[in-house]
Amino acid sequence: MVDESTARLGYAHFLERVLIDEDTLRARVAALGAQISADYADKTPLLICLLRGGVMFMTDLSRSLTIPHHLDFMAVSSYGVGARVTRGQPRITLDLNTDIRARHVLLVEDIVDSGHTVDHVLRMLQTRDPASLKVCVLLDKPSRREVYVPITYRGFEIPDVFVFGYGLDLDEYFRNLPFIGVVKQELL
Ligand code: PRP
Repeated sequence: MVDESTARLGYAHFLERVLIDEDTLRARVAALGAQISADYADKTPLLICLLRGGVMFMTDLSRSLTIPHHLDFMAVSSYGVGARVTRGQPRITLDLNTDIRARHVLLVEDIVDSGHTVDHVLRMLQTRDPASLKVCVLLDKPSRREVYVPITYRGFEIPDVFVFGYGLDLDEYFRNLPFIGVVKQELL
């Protein structure tokens, strides 16, 4: 069930502060794109977006790349709608259309929190024999980590606060905000 009252209240009701503004996001994504373009200069990487949170980051990152590359999408669910804490084993709800054998794969994710989602997906992708497999994450919340995740490209390290916007939802809303905001603690 989606809580429609969240949408009626509007994002400003929930926003404690902007953590990363639009200009800072744009500059950091461009820098990551330049670094990835240089690192994969002689390759055609396959970027895999984990839906849904990673979609804004993935599309902006893709547009910042100057090398040929392919895109594909997976969905993995670890949070229930309305739930604001991780629970349970991640579950693959949408698989790839691409055969990743011998491909240079870059997994693109919005946030690594406990690490279970990316850990699970990496293990699953590794069984399909990619030539290489690396992780690009916009937001890294290391204070919450329960399992090690090898992150090659990191946008920002953030504190243990609940964030939304730029792909990340609050009750499935506000993914379209152009900035990353912090939710008021008393509303969680
Ligand atoms: C969120 C986020 C990551 C994961 C991070 O996904 O997009 O995939 O949780 O948490 P973890 O490191 O503790 O595993 P969510 O299940 O909320 O789905 P969504 O991307 O559709 O919002």
